[in-house]
Amino acid sequence: MPGLISRALTLTLALLVNGQAEFDALSYVDSLIGTTNGGNVFAGASLPYGMVKAVADTNSPSRQGGFTLDDSNVTGFSVLHDSGTGGSPSLGNFPLFAYASCPQDDINQCVFPKKARAKLGTFRNETVKSRPGYFGITLDSGVEAEMTTTQHAALFRFTFPPSTSGGVASPLILQDLTDLSDSRLDNASIVADPERPRLSGSAVFAPSFGQGNYTAYFCTDFSGAQVRDRGIFVNSRASAGVHELLDLNRGINGYPLPGGAFMRFNLTDRTVLARTGVSFISSAQACKNAEAEIPDYNFETVESAARSAWQEKLKPVRVSTGGGVDMTLITNFYSGIYRTMVNPQDYTGENPKWTSDAPYFDSFYCLWDSFRSQIPFLTVIDPAAVSKMVRSLIDTYEHEGWLPDCRMTFSKGYTQGGSNADVVLADAFIKGISENIDWQKGYEAVRKDAEVEPHNWAVQGRGGLDSWKGLGYIPVEDFDYKGFGTMTRSVSRTLEYSYNDFCIAQMAGGLNNSDDVVKYRESSGNWINLFKTDQVSMVANISTTFTGFFQSKYLNQTWGHQDPLVCSNIDTTGTSCSLTIDGQETFESSLWEYGYFVPHDQAKLVELYGGQKEFVRRLDFLHDQNITYIGNEPSFLTVFQYHYAGRPALSAHRSHFYIPRYFNPTPGGLPGNDDSGAMGSFVAFSMMGLFPNPGQDVYLITPPFFESVNITNPVTNKTATIQNINFDPTYEAIYIQQATLNGVPYTKNWLDHSFFTEGKQLVLTLGRNESKWGTDIESLPPSLTDYTPDPILNGANLRGRGRWEVGALGL
Ligand SMILES: *[C@@H]1O[C@H](CO)[C@@H](O)[C@H](O)[C@H]1NC(C)=O
Ligand SMILES: *[C@@H]1O[C@H](CO)[C@@H](O)[C@H](O)[C@H]1NC(C)=O
Ligand SMILES: *[C@@H]1O[C@H](CO)[C@@H](O)[C@H](O)[C@H]1NC(C)=O
Ligand SMILES: *[C@@H]1O[C@H](CO)[C@@H](O)[C@H](O)[C@H]1NC(C)=O
Ligand SMILES: *[C@@H]1O[C@H](CO)[C@@H](O)[C@H](O)[C@H]1NC(C)=O
Ligand SMILES: *[C@@H]1O[C@H](CO)[C@@H](O)[C@H](O)[C@H]1NC(C)=O
Ligand SMILES: *[C@@H]1O[C@H](CO)[C@@H](O)[C@H](O)[C@H]1NC(C)=O
Ligand SMILES: *[C@@H]1O[C@H](CO)[C@@H](O)[C@H](O)[C@H]1NC(C)=O
Ligand SMILES: *[C@@H]1O[C@H](CO)[C@@H](O)[C@H](O)[C@H]1NC(C)=O
Ligand SMILES: *[C@@H]1O[C@H](CO)[C@@H](O)[C@H](O)[C@H]1NC(C)=O
Ligand SMILES: *[C@@H]1O[C@H](CO)[C@@H](O)[C@H](O)[C@H]1NC(C)=O
Ligand SMILES: *[C@@H]1O[C@H](CO)[C@@H](O)[C@H](O)[C@H]1NC(C)=O
Repeated sequence: MPGLISRALTLTLALLVNGQAEFDALSYVDSLIGTTNGGNVFAGASLPYGMVKAVADTNSPSRQGGFTLDDSNVTGFSVLHDSGTGGSPSLGNFPLFAYASCPQDDINQCVFPKKARAKLGTFRNETVKSRPGYFGITLDSGVEAEMTTTQHAALFRFTFPPSTSGGVASPLILQDLTDLSDSRLDNASIVADPERPRLSGSAVFAPSFGQGNYTAYFCTDFSGAQVRDRGIFVNSRASAGVHELLDLNRGINGYPLPGGAFMRFNLTDRTVLARTGVSFISSAQACKNAEAEIPDYNFETVESAARSAWQEKLKPVRVSTGGGVDMTLITNFYSGIYRTMVNPQDYTGENPKWTSDAPYFDSFYCLWDSFRSQIPFLTVIDPAAVSKMVRSLIDTYEHEGWLPDCRMTFSKGYTQGGSNADVVLADAFIKGISENIDWQKGYEAVRKDAEVEPHNWAVQGRGGLDSWKGLGYIPVEDFDYKGFGTMTRSVSRTLEYSYNDFCIAQMAGGLNNSDDVVKYRESSGNWINLFKTDQVSMVANISTTFTGFFQSKYLNQTWGHQDPLVCSNIDTTGTSCSLTIDGQETFESSLWEYGYFVPHDQAKLVELYGGQKEFVRRLDFLHDQNITYIGNEPSFLTVFQYHYAGRPALSAHRSHFYIPRYFNPTPGGLPGNDDSGAMGSFVAFSMMGLFPNPGQDVYLITPPFFESVNITNPVTNKTATIQNINFDPTYEAIYIQQATLNGVPYTKNWLDHSFFTEGKQLVLTLGRNESKWGTDIESLPPSLTDYTPDPILNGANLRGRGRWEVGALGL
């Protein structure tokens, strides 16, 4: 939809510095990417990590982040949202809806309930305007709604068509007590203040992918028009004679009873401003938030502050727009970066559950998704935010007893596999994130994940710890009376627990706890207990077989059986690999894909798969046969794992295979839900040319999609640069022939984090053919086990090279 983007472009190119148009990354952000085809991206106005996110909500059947471009109708304009949701649609509480007038000037002829008013919410795509900090749309009714936000409040500008009767236009704006997924549980109240143009209230809702409930409060003030009358509505009837609706219940059929309040205006100008503050503490605090942050209802001031905040956040990354690069790739890239900072959300000061000096972040939705590249990406471009997130996670551990694996609206979200906060903490720790972090406390938290089984491991920690410690794997149909959770995913949990333990060992190393290094490295090898060397996978109608896969195992050590292709992208059996009791032994993916999830010991895996050549043949097969699903996070690392078999050229080839084919800057341009920005970070890291193996100080090198990329570390202010010599915008020359780091020849196919903090210079010379660069054993990234020489390589025994040396951890 080029028309939507061009307005933002003209706006930003107007910024002149010394007579020259300053590079403005925001002009390359398209916030409508992922608004259809299941991306579920939040497309509206927000600050970076903002608590308030304003957008039009639609009645799409998807799990939308509010707005969609899938020909659904608008049902309201609300200010709390998540982005890229995979569970049910999240938040969308207390929407406003605006009518140019009520038929016959009779309030009862305005259509109040959300389901019914949807038929008044049609709009044309071309009216949608979305850019960082701003969202606007014009409904076919002629009502235009524009919105911008601060951290805890939103400002709406409604512009109404002139009165058709020739008299004073009398628009009505309602606010109701629903949310996007109709999760309201109880206790909903709203008051139309008789003294001033204010609606305020609260309700209790269910979290979108977790347990318990949360209470949200709002306070909406109107400005710019005279209030004609005000009142409440219940179902389809309204009255200006009643100003309070208290303790509205759920309906007897489980659907929350429609109810809310309204204000009707006599227009002087064509616009009405509405300012909505929210809080999770009280309505009074919601009002205070709005008054403090938007004192004068100045739309332009609020929007301009939001744009500046985003400009500041995108400033560390600067790519060259030269070399003939396709500009849509620049948009793809910056839009991906932008989405990494929409979620998680900074709710500091709004936590009703405990008071503390630590920041409070919410919408870790979920760490299973974001540990892989989103939070690692923020570690590169916004380390201060990561340190706050880590403090918040540790503070959550202190007050709730456990690190979360998933958390939204102050509620415990569902754990999908391992205790992946362990990876998040280890990754931040080894990359030197330290600002105000109590790492001893952080270590205590990850260690508890490994040592203590929670009673309810569906939402925290790990299950099956007795089996884990006694048998060295999670058995299928485990006997576990100490804690409760869904007894599935035994293979993927074993693989994730193994990696989680490796990450704990990483932290133990940095904290000089050598006993724990030994202990957790040992258990990090448990994955091998589920490797069944004679497990065969016959792929339907393809005359290729592979032998040796992970497989489930019973308590009595007898192998179970799950077809290695079940729950792969080409599985047509419709089997559930979700969090249901009939789930399989892998979560959201197949044994095929989990077959590569040993991030810490690729050397051993290469050996098990029959050497580097076979490892590569199998990885090619995984991708070429569409077994992997690039729209879900377990696939991310598989794109780059060729590096571990000495074939970095093939990682470059794969990343170009997926981008832009599966990730492109259009509304339908994401292959799956963004999962809080996880897909965005995949795009950003891949196009930047450095992909992390999170929990390790390792970035795998591929050529950036641009002539050059500069990344300034916001803490040290040093700028790291990657430059492509022989840059080819047709991407035929994507193979590294040679490299230099700070001017010195560099042959390793990976870098560590000091590249960013010390601002190093990497220069890559590209060619059209795969070269020897980065292929020999000495060039490979570290692995727990030694690499053994492979027949296709002619290296001598390089025992000890590229290992995770204890010494490297400061011991
Ligand atoms: C609106 O845009 C979306 C996404 O591009 C598209 O799927 C839909 O068909 C468009 N609707 C109309 C009426 O053009
Ligand atoms: C949107 O509203 C139009 C017009 O009232 C109606 O025909 C259509 O079915 C609605 N679509 C949805 C998805 O509600
Ligand atoms: C409902 O609200 C009332 C008044 O604010 C409060 O006393 C009560 O505890 C609330 N009930 C629930 C279930 O939240
Ligand atoms: C919300 O959760 C609290 C604490 O668990 C519980 O006491 C309360 O009954 C719940 N309220 C509703 C409406 O479910
Ligand atoms: C608003 O306009 C209506 C209809 O023109 C009029 O009856 C009413 O007095 C006006 N109300 C106010 C508060 O000005
Ligand atoms: C990157 O930094 C270098 C060195 O400061 C500079 O010469 C170059 O212009 C920068 N590139 C971009 C795209 O900003
Ligand atoms: C660990 O030991 C090293 C080397 O003795 C020392 O520099 C470092 O400060 C120690 N770290 C901690 C957390 O004690
Ligand atoms: C394999 O071939 C059989 C027989 O030709 C066909 O019925 C089946 O759909 C094919 N399966 C796949 C996955 O293509
Ligand atoms: C082990 O347990 C499984 C599942 O209960 C059972 O099917 C299998 O026969 C048992 N194997 C042996 C050797 O007892
Ligand atoms: C791969 O799977 C996706 C769905 O996940 C499908 O859209 C695509 O057509 C498939 N590609 C091939 C080559 O089968
Ligand atoms: C980095 O730059 C910022 C802003 O220009 C400045 O406040 C800060 O002191 C600098 N930090 C270092 C380590 O130079
Ligand atoms: C690149 O490889 C192709 C085919 O493998 C070969 O024909 C060509 O000569 C190679 N080019 C160079 C520069 O080595």
